[in-house]
Amino acid sequence: MAVTNAQELLKHDLGDLLYAEKQILKGLKQMIRETSNPGMRTRLEEHHGETEQQVANLERAFAAIGEKPRGQKCPGILGILEEKKEFKEEEEPSKAVLEAFNLGAGLRVEHYEIAAYRSAIALARSVRQSEVEALLTQNLEQELFMAQYIEGASAAALQDAKMMMEREEEAAASSRQRAATRKSATKRSAAKQGGARKGGAAKGAAKGAAKKAAARKGGARKGAARKGGRTATRR
Ligand SMILES: [Fe+2]
Ligand SMILES: [Fe+2]
Repeated sequence: MAVTNAQELLKHDLGDLLYAEKQILKGLKQMIRETSNPGMRTRLEEHHGETEQQVANLERAFAAIGEKPRGQKCPGILGILEEKKEFKEEEEPSKAVLEAFNLGAGLRVEHYEIAAYRSAIALARSVRQSEVEALLTQNLEQELFMAQYIEGASAAALQDAKMMMEREEEAAASSRQRAATRKSATKRSAAKQGGARKGGAAKGAAKGAAKKAAARKGGARKGAARKGGRTATRR
């Protein structure tokens, strides 16, 4: 449906925000599962609860303008969430690398929300929808606080993630070392077994050759004896 005035544009923005917040709820759940830093994890869990309130506020904002709440597909937020999905698929990050990446991904989401709420608030103010303005301002304050938290906690969280990365690298190096040791031990034992088989075969061949030679000698002796017998009879 064509948007022809500021009131309809506000409705469009509310739909866009509602859709975005619902996508963010899913994203936050996943991010909580991927976060081991206790402080960050707790804050993400709290922000998940806040996001549920934000969805409820948006539904109330729809009611305030006499409309039914309806999400409007928001390619902006989908792009940010897709970026993370692609990073995971293409770069196959370790747990620590992903946790460091998530700090930036989370901050991108918050700043997207901040921009979206600020513009929707300006619009609500321009059409004198004070209730909508107040509800959106509540949401904006939570987004601002979350963005500030991520920025403030990032240095320490990155330090923790870096230590985790070092431990992961050490563990990977020692597992490679163990695999190499196992491989060379397997090679050595295979070489030993091969040598033993070759030795046995050589022995067998020598035995066979000796038997054949003995048989040949025996045959020659018998022939000679037969010849000797015939000569004696003729005399
Ligand atoms: Fe939000
Ligand atoms: Fe947020």
